[in-house]
Amino acid sequence: MKNLKAIILAAGEGSRMKSKKPKVLHEILNKSMVDYVIETAKGCGAEEVCVVVGHKAEMVKEGIKAEGVSFALQAEQKGTGHAVMMAGDFIDENSDMMILYGDTPLITGETLAKLVEVHREEGHGVTVVSSKVADPTGYGRIMRNDAGSFMRIVEHKDASDVERLINEINTGIYIFNGKDLKDSLGKLNNNNAQGEYYLTDCLELILKAGKKVEAVIAKDADEFFGVNSRVQLAEAAKIMKNRINRKHMENGVTLVDPENTYIGSDVVIGRDTVILPGCVIEGKTVIGEDCEIGPNSRLTDTKLGDGVTFQSSTAIESEIGSETTVGPFAYIRPNCHIGNKVKVGDFVEVKNSNIGDGTKIPHLAYIGDTDAGEKINFGCGSIMVNYDGKKKHRTVVEDGVFVGCNVNLVAPVTVKKGSYIAAGSTITKDVPEEVLAVARAKQTVIEGWVEKRK
Ligand code: UD1
Ligand code: CA
Repeated sequence: MKNLKAIILAAGEGSRMKSKKPKVLHEILNKSMVDYVIETAKGCGAEEVCVVVGHKAEMVKEGIKAEGVSFALQAEQKGTGHAVMMAGDFIDENSDMMILYGDTPLITGETLAKLVEVHREEGHGVTVVSSKVADPTGYGRIMRNDAGSFMRIVEHKDASDVERLINEINTGIYIFNGKDLKDSLGKLNNNNAQGEYYLTDCLELILKAGKKVEAVIAKDADEFFGVNSRVQLAEAAKIMKNRINRKHMENGVTLVDPENTYIGSDVVIGRDTVILPGCVIEGKTVIGEDCEIGPNSRLTDTKLGDGVTFQSSTAIESEIGSETTVGPFAYIRPNCHIGNKVKVGDFVEVKNSNIGDGTKIPHLAYIGDTDAGEKINFGCGSIMVNYDGKKKHRTVVEDGVFVGCNVNLVAPVTVKKGSYIAAGSTITKDVPEEVLAVARAKQTVIEGWVEKRK
């Protein structure tokens, strides 16, 4: 959207979280609250985003994953108006300035875009979002005149008993005309119960300067839910989870038990995929069509093709081809590229490896730092011995190799095309094409041994 910028307030301490970590970095489904707000601001068309940081400013700056945001420092927390003053250089007189909080992660881009539309069509100096709540304790109250027009906001601590009965509260989300914001900030004072510079006072100042000010009552109060404690963090996470899960179900994904399915907001899932209970699917994970995931699986930043069965297993930062089956109890660690129609069976760990199409690792194996070709059979107990105590080395296993049970391939080593490795071998030298390699002690039989021992 042209001429729209966002300021996100995130300087407060959030002491009720009882945490070493700044409040806005606490995560919902593997993404920090402030990152949700930044993405939403950008998603609804903000051309630039400035985050006001203060408490543990460096940690907040480093913790934000979203790119292309600028920061303003509010060294001392002297109120929401003061926080916006600290972003003074960012305020553009020719733009509308959206003000958001870093601890209100449920706000949606659609809602913000509609607000901007109303704000612009009606020519407001400022538009604030209000909400009617059962318990308004602690919030700023929206004061209206007899005709129902906005007059001002009174903070809870400054409100009289009568004013405290008002249940229309300030959510803290605003669209300001840039020039009106700048002018009103210049006139703010801190003559109030908390000795703070209240951003809320800007609204009355703008009204008095002859501009239109409107409080728009939110349709969906959930969107403006602010997180101050771990209990509220869990409540927000539940709302976010339901929203995301609903979207996938509407897109044609079956969630057998949506209550116990945790999908991150950036995850993509194809049609007719079934997610069984207890799955955590996060980061930039992409799942194809007709897959069956779970129960109890974790996928982080992993790409799955179509028709994959991924049972009770974990995969991190890897790629898994179509019609491959994984698990139960497999562990796929970062940087694996696993082909199509591969079997990674039970108690198999794969790390930093390439596995070609049609290869089978049915059970109890460790495949690390390995380049494995197509149609290989890794027997039970195949171990790629990749670590010499100081360095990691690679193992190469070419197409069609048969690795017998309980085999160690001591890297660096190559097994060429079509060869067989006898069960129980410890291979330390390269194996040529189409041979049988045996590297184990020969069996001896001692006749009469038992008789002698008697
Ligand atoms: C503010 C509003 C109140 C509204 C409520 C909604 C003011 C004066 N009051 O209350 O009308 O009902 O939000 O939640 O604006 N922050 C800073 N620097 C500061 C102070 C706050 O960055 O100096 C940030 C906080 O990190 C937080 C947000 O601003 O993200 C709101 O601060 P908080 O103290 O929770 O709100 P109140 O001032 O109590
Ligand atoms: Ca406060």
